[in-house]
Amino acid sequence: MILVTAGPTREFIDDVRFLSNLSTGRMGIEIAMAFAGAGVPTTLVLGPTSIAPPAMANLSVVDVVSAQQMFDAVEARFAACRMFIAAAAVADYRPVARATGKLKKATTPDAKDAPITLQLQPTPDILFEMGQRRRPAPEQILVGFALEVQNPIEHARGKLARKRCDLICLNSPANFGPDASAEGLTLISAEGPEQTLIAEPPTDKADLAQRLVAHLRDRFDLKG
Ligand code: CTP
Repeated sequence: MILVTAGPTREFIDDVRFLSNLSTGRMGIEIAMAFAGAGVPTTLVLGPTSIAPPAMANLSVVDVVSAQQMFDAVEARFAACRMFIAAAAVADYRPVARATGKLKKATTPDAKDAPITLQLQPTPDILFEMGQRRRPAPEQILVGFALEVQNPIEHARGKLARKRCDLICLNSPANFGPDASAEGLTLISAEGPEQTLIAEPPTDKADLAQRLVAHLRDRFDLKG
């Protein structure tokens, strides 16, 4: 089984407000669909997104909301997976406490214009934690994503080692948005030089996902 995370997470401040990010989940969803379409049983752990993955053979979807829920869903399935692909944009911090109901704004004369402080604590780093639990390759393969602005290759190599991944897919900030992927993905592994996958046409995320999945199946000998 291939285990994939995708989408953003939501970290609630109170019952109606949350911290999140602009991830659409598109890349991870396309990766999961490409595996399932090739006949490989795939589980997609998906954060809140407006894209509904299609019902298809070999694809099961587990909907989650927060980083902790995503962690729990992944941890419960990790031992059974042959490959874990962390494509989710997990929120790195969550409020220390979630208020019940709706927080009221301050209205007293001295407090109404004063800044307030939201205390945050780190969420679990799902990929890092699975790196601690993993069986060595080729029994289990870990694939991470990275978005780096400065010294991208060097930082991605650091992430590869720290999170004990076999491969990091380096994304470019230019690829953000529902369809843009013009700069492709740069694949980084411990051995060998970097390799870049470009879609055809270059902005087609579904094609990029197909190319990545073909590469992973070939490189790590995944038959099903
Ligand atoms: N990841 C995760 N759980 C987290 C945070 C990240 O599983 N709580 C995974 C992502 O799915 C991705 C990789 O780790 O595969 C990204 O690593 P991260 O350290 O978050 O990289 P950036 O978001 O680029 O952050 P930074 O540059 O601050 O390291």
